[in-house]
Amino acid sequence: MRTVREPAELQMAVRQLRRDGMEIGFVPTMGALHAGHLSLVEIARRRGALVVVSVFVNPTQFGPGEDLDRYPRQPERDAGMLHEAGCDLLFLPSVETIYPPGNATRIHVEGAARGYEGKLRPGHFDGVATVVTILFQLVRPNFAVFGEKDAQQLAVVRQLVRDLHLPVEIVAGPTKREPDGLAMSSRNAYLSPAEREAATVLSRALAAAGDEIAAGERRAAAIRRRLRDELQTEPRFELDYADVVDALTFQPVTRLAGRVVIPVAGRVGNTRLLDNLQLELPGESGG
Ligand code: PAF
Repeated sequence: MRTVREPAELQMAVRQLRRDGMEIGFVPTMGALHAGHLSLVEIARRRGALVVVSVFVNPTQFGPGEDLDRYPRQPERDAGMLHEAGCDLLFLPSVETIYPPGNATRIHVEGAARGYEGKLRPGHFDGVATVVTILFQLVRPNFAVFGEKDAQQLAVVRQLVRDLHLPVEIVAGPTKREPDGLAMSSRNAYLSPAEREAATVLSRALAAAGDEIAAGERRAAAIRRRLRDELQTEPRFELDYADVVDALTFQPVTRLAGRVVIPVAGRVGNTRLLDNLQLELPGESGG
């Protein structure tokens, strides 16, 4: 695995990799890697692609008072893990490389970016869309792999690619979980042992909702109630939202049909946690 820091080096390395006519698969990350990220690398590898991974803690997607400064940074450990996982090229740019002095262009996203994380973290998805567009422009991948764990981000990136006609296929990677069901996240490292235990309420609530759906429930209101009842059993969990949305538009639905996502988010102590259930059900979505 080669590590590059500068766009010119990256582009030369990508050109060399592409020479044999192979596809480039790209996995953008903010580092502090875990098995969830490595599963995205594995998806790219299984498609027979050469794999480029970026590790960049993107300042423009953090709001004032968020955890930009304390976000875990461990580039050497990340590089070791990526080497083991079969990554071909690691792009490790500095903030000044991605946002050179005087840069003044941002992408503004609406639609799927409007509610939920977009409402609670104003500007967050503009920052994500901006950095993803810059990274796509630098790497020029054939496809890019994003985790389903950040379901709204995935919907926003798909919308970005559609709206700007970006020549990149977006591939989704299933959420990786700890043995007790907690969705893997770099932010899980912030949790104390007691908070870590409380955090399992998200996956328990989603499992309860999944059971209702498997038993035939299709009313979104009933699923929302079930989620809230389950989430309330954990006093250390502070709910931000629990809803049933269309997977493409990230707008709430009244009935479950087609591709739907059940996103849940909230806080345990100072740590924000997100999880979701992805479903493909009979019928037309959007109702
Ligand atoms: O999901 C992430 O880690 C980030 O939001 C991404 C896509 C790498 C953009 O900074």
